[in-house]
Amino acid sequence: MVSETAQDHLQQVVHIARGFYARKDRAHDLEHALRVREWGIKLAMAEGADVTVVELAALLHDIGRSGAVEKTHAESSAGLAVNILRKAGYSEEIIIKVKKAIIAHSREAGYEPETLEAKILYDADKLDFVGAIGLGRLFTLGGVKGWPLIGENSCESFYQEKIRGYHEHLFTKSALTLFKPLFHYMEEFWQELHTETI
Ligand SMILES: [Fe+2]
Ligand SMILES: [Fe+2]
Repeated sequence: MVSETAQDHLQQVVHIARGFYARKDRAHDLEHALRVREWGIKLAMAEGADVTVVELAALLHDIGRSGAVEKTHAESSAGLAVNILRKAGYSEEIIIKVKKAIIAHSREAGYEPETLEAKILYDADKLDFVGAIGLGRLFTLGGVKGWPLIGENSCESFYQEKIRGYHEHLFTKSALTLFKPLFHYMEEFWQELHTETI
């Protein structure tokens, strides 16, 4: 969708998303969604996926975080996204694809990403948790959760238990290529941190 109307619809979705993300922690704010959108566009173009579906799914994928009315934030975000997209005038075909992607972007809901667009959203979301931006988000989240830098239940343990394993679960080759140098930067950061704390 490149027409003026399509851009208007997209801007309407960004505007609505902004309101939802204003109530979220800064690691999962509109800026996160906008960066996931950019990663998503890049991956969708490289992998031949539906760019509109990926863009919409990225913009709305975390709107249901905190205060989730459903079991998980992915399910809650998917439900909210369906209502928003219907009101914005998107076709049911697009809405179903966006819903499938959002519901599977986090493993907590127990859904596997099955469509190419769902796989791309999953990968794009993980790419925003690596590199310098990933570190910034990690420490922002740590601040909200009250995590220390290192030790038990810390920023470092979250990194080791979750972020370090992401590359084993990425679905697309394009994401893995983009992931590697950003992951390497993070690994070096933790090595440096330990030389400073010893
Ligand atoms: Fe999420
Ligand atoms: Fe996310």
